[in-house]
Amino acid sequence: MNKKTIEDIDFLGKRVLARFDFNAPLIDGVIADRTRIVTALPTIKYLLEKGAKLIICSHFGRPKGKIMQEYSLKPIHKMLCDYIGDMPFFNEAIAKDTVEASHKLKNGEAMFLENLRFYKGEESSCDDFSQKLADLCDIYINDAFGACHRNHASIAKTPKYAKESGAGFVLKKELEVLGDSLFGDVARPFVAIIGGSKVSDKIGVLKNLIKKTDAVIVGGGMAFTFLKALGHSVGKSLIEEDKLDIAVEVIKTAKQKGVKLLLPVDVKVAKEFPNPIDKLVEFDNVLIDQIPKDMMGLDIGVGTEAIFAYEIKKAKTVLWNGPMGVFENPVFDKGTYAVAMAVAETTENNGAISVVGGGDSASAAVQCGVASRVSHISTGGGASLAFLEGKVLPGVACLDDK
Ligand code: 3PG
Repeated sequence: MNKKTIEDIDFLGKRVLARFDFNAPLIDGVIADRTRIVTALPTIKYLLEKGAKLIICSHFGRPKGKIMQEYSLKPIHKMLCDYIGDMPFFNEAIAKDTVEASHKLKNGEAMFLENLRFYKGEESSCDDFSQKLADLCDIYINDAFGACHRNHASIAKTPKYAKESGAGFVLKKELEVLGDSLFGDVARPFVAIIGGSKVSDKIGVLKNLIKKTDAVIVGGGMAFTFLKALGHSVGKSLIEEDKLDIAVEVIKTAKQKGVKLLLPVDVKVAKEFPNPIDKLVEFDNVLIDQIPKDMMGLDIGVGTEAIFAYEIKKAKTVLWNGPMGVFENPVFDKGTYAVAMAVAETTENNGAISVVGGGDSASAAVQCGVASRVSHISTGGGASLAFLEGKVLPGVACLDDK
């Protein structure tokens, strides 16, 4: 990695603005998943141990430049205090008092700023706001991988105004694993499993990976657009008519490059999409050419599970992004479980490096109980997709080079 990291910088006595991604799911005011807080702890502890005067900041939700109490970072601040000890909370990130307080911090002390997205200047990447944030620090550390694809002030501009900048431990690991394992000297065969409901969400990822992998497995709702592009009738299954040409292009590229493209050969179908999502509905397992006109595919079938698992277990590098079906429903979660188990098994038995893309895939890995059995689960949803598409992340590009 050619970017400065937290290990390349001297923090003693310096004011350090550390940007995290504490955008954790909150249900009725309670943090439903602590992953993004817990994964930030090594960076926070390291900075404090190295004698930094630490100013912690993040965004939370999408308040669009307005102060909205439901998007306050106070619950996260409280939780973090439980882990690292008390620290003051500042409602106004860029006020004069806040800057003064940053100067008064002693070495190894921290303070915590309210949601940066309460300011319009954050999302509009306003110069003045970026500069005012930089007034809080000598050194800027980015550990917010999940937000690095955003061209926002605290991500893409503030570091340019700081005297020195670099990546925290979370960002460093993401760049090393995603960058080196998947796009560097890749151990082969490299198998990518791409799922989720829509082709439109994964166009860039598919186009990029089809050129770099040995096999691409497509499951989830998006598989039906591919199946239709190949001339299959798919009943009432989800189809993106305007993405049929993309599917054809991916199929063609796979052929030209000699990349194996695996699609479902059978699917689990039902008459309706479960509503609520966990409602138990009647289903059937049919071959893809036998999907009844009034039914829709909601998971890969048992034959497909076996074919996909066989391919995954041969992999030395495996990337999994997106569920194979409506995995929130116990009737349609089997395909995702089968893939999850195969990914875990190839990691353990075949010495493969396995990477799970963030967002839905991370939740699926947790639900299937394989989170601790894979090599890496990305902390970013949109950011990991942008990375897999081969895009340069603005939050990484602006950090100091080594
Ligand atoms: C995420 O949760 O993916 C990141 O925190 C980015 O959030 P955003 O999509 O609201 O920018």
